[in-house]
Amino acid sequence: MSYETLEIAMDGPVRNVRLNRPDVRNAFNGVVVDELTKAFKEADEDDSTRAVLLSGNGKSFSAGADLAWMKEQAGLPHAENAAGADYMARMFLAIARCKKPVVARVHGHALGGGSGLTAAADVAICTEGCLFGLTEVKLGIVPAVISPFVLQKIGAGRARTLFLTGERFDGREAQRIGLVHRAVAEDQLDEAVKATVKELLSAGPAAVASAKELIRSVADLSLEDAIPVTSKWIADLRATDEAKEGFTAFLEKRKPGWMS
Ligand code: COA
Repeated sequence: MSYETLEIAMDGPVRNVRLNRPDVRNAFNGVVVDELTKAFKEADEDDSTRAVLLSGNGKSFSAGADLAWMKEQAGLPHAENAAGADYMARMFLAIARCKKPVVARVHGHALGGGSGLTAAADVAICTEGCLFGLTEVKLGIVPAVISPFVLQKIGAGRARTLFLTGERFDGREAQRIGLVHRAVAEDQLDEAVKATVKELLSAGPAAVASAKELIRSVADLSLEDAIPVTSKWIADLRATDEAKEGFTAFLEKRKPGWMS
């Protein structure tokens, strides 16, 4: 599929998905929502893709929802307005539920929905000076569709300050509160992203996908209720061909087949 607002390129097993509306700081409109959703579905279905790297061209990762588009949506009949909002929410879901691990490379600004894209990724790495913010209240709205993704990363307590004040904060603070995994100096960003991608590629592909599902399945269970789920999980997983290869490779002091 060809894209108008994204650049997609394979780098070996890594699918690079770059937001490409630099003139509006990669703000997302309906076309971006549609294309990003499709790009992540494509990543799901493509066996040669082992990781997805989400980044933005130009000065900023993303300035969030395109406000001209938001205004347009607001003027639609309510049912169409609601359907558009549902579709936008499902874009974030497509990222969070992607079967392949998603790394976000975040620079410049990640405001509103840009912070949402950061939260929807599995691993986000940003520059220390990058500016984040759940700035929606400054515009008279709320970070509604991104809230479940952001809450999973920063928790309700921190959200009570950040959703209500809409204050901006830098990459160091984003790391401190768990919105990103690491904040690094600008000239270290690509190296840090590369190091994380290398870690992901050295892991068993089915195990990585299973780890994502495991978190989803266990996060809300009590310790007692988790036991039947987690014990079955490891019993099933350790009997797979991938696990057998992982154990055997370790014992034979060689790299597993998925690393060759
Ligand atoms: N929607 C639509 N257009 C946007 C946009 C958005 N979210 N963010 C930036 N733009 C546009 C600007 O209107 C400007 O257009 P112009 O060149 O036609 O004037 C262009 O992108 C560049 O933005 P500008 O503000 O001049 O760049 P900057 O580098 O000084 O600042 C930001 C960048 C991201 C800090 C600033 O644009 C901003 O605060 N954007 C809004 C972010 C926001 O509140 N997002 C939440 C949305 S729910």
